[in-house]
Amino acid sequence: MRPAVGFTLQPSTEYLDLLEPIAAEHADVIEVAPETVWRFDRAGAWSGNAFFERIRAFGASHGKRFIAHGVGWSPGSAELSGSERERRWLDAIACTHDAFAFEWYTDHLGATVWNGEELLLPLPLPMTPAAVATVRERMARIAALGLDVGVENSVFYFRYGSVVDEADFVRAITVDGCVHLLLDLHNVFTTCVNAGVDPREYVERLPLERVIELHVSGGSDSDPVWLRSGKTRRLDSHDRGVPEPVWELLRIALPRCVKARAVVLERMEGTVSDADVGPLRDELVRVRAEIDAVTR
Ligand SMILES: [Fe+2]
Repeated sequence: MRPAVGFTLQPSTEYLDLLEPIAAEHADVIEVAPETVWRFDRAGAWSGNAFFERIRAFGASHGKRFIAHGVGWSPGSAELSGSERERRWLDAIACTHDAFAFEWYTDHLGATVWNGEELLLPLPLPMTPAAVATVRERMARIAALGLDVGVENSVFYFRYGSVVDEADFVRAITVDGCVHLLLDLHNVFTTCVNAGVDPREYVERLPLERVIELHVSGGSDSDPVWLRSGKTRRLDSHDRGVPEPVWELLRIALPRCVKARAVVLERMEGTVSDADVGPLRDELVRVRAEIDAVTR
């Protein structure tokens, strides 16, 4: 199967006004974070927000397919199993799926709910059999909606254990193909730059045959004043162009991701201006060229 070219649409009027035209021309599939197009009222009742209808209508009028990339399901949060919050979230994903007909659903490997607190970014999980079981159990609840599911390798700025153990953790979660891997290559690059590990070796260790989707994006280095040491960290900020080492990782990984269904270019809202539209269009064209080079 030839992977599709994907682009993220973010819940921002400025972002959509600037980037819908290049998505219409150069993307086959549109990635949406379902919870960014919802609202819950004080009684907990769900509804779509203004971006729900805008993005759905964009897809309908341009013949685009949708894929879901959540951040709030929090696959690693055992405390959510059987909770009211889990039931509400599942109902909301089901309603969004009814409108968008998502082709598959992925979420970030980590925990965005911890001790009852809602966090914006995923925290790392202990790389234990219990965590593997939690992730698989919670992703199975989304799979029960009739969706293929996957988890994305996340970026962490601390972790329980070694970076080199992450491949085995991911392998255990994806062992039987019930949960796929979303391979984010800028996340790999960021993780490896910060840990002093060769990203090509890191990729080689991952179960590439279980990859359902790949992400490419860019990022920045942290401000030296953040740390007393003056050291910087690579950030998965999705605010710049895709760096050459990430394109190189795509050329290494894509031929071995034989079940990949899409390569998606990610960009964060609030990071684009008129001057970014042309470079982002060029990156979408380059994604297609990289896919063509593998599948020709
Ligand atoms: Fe990603």
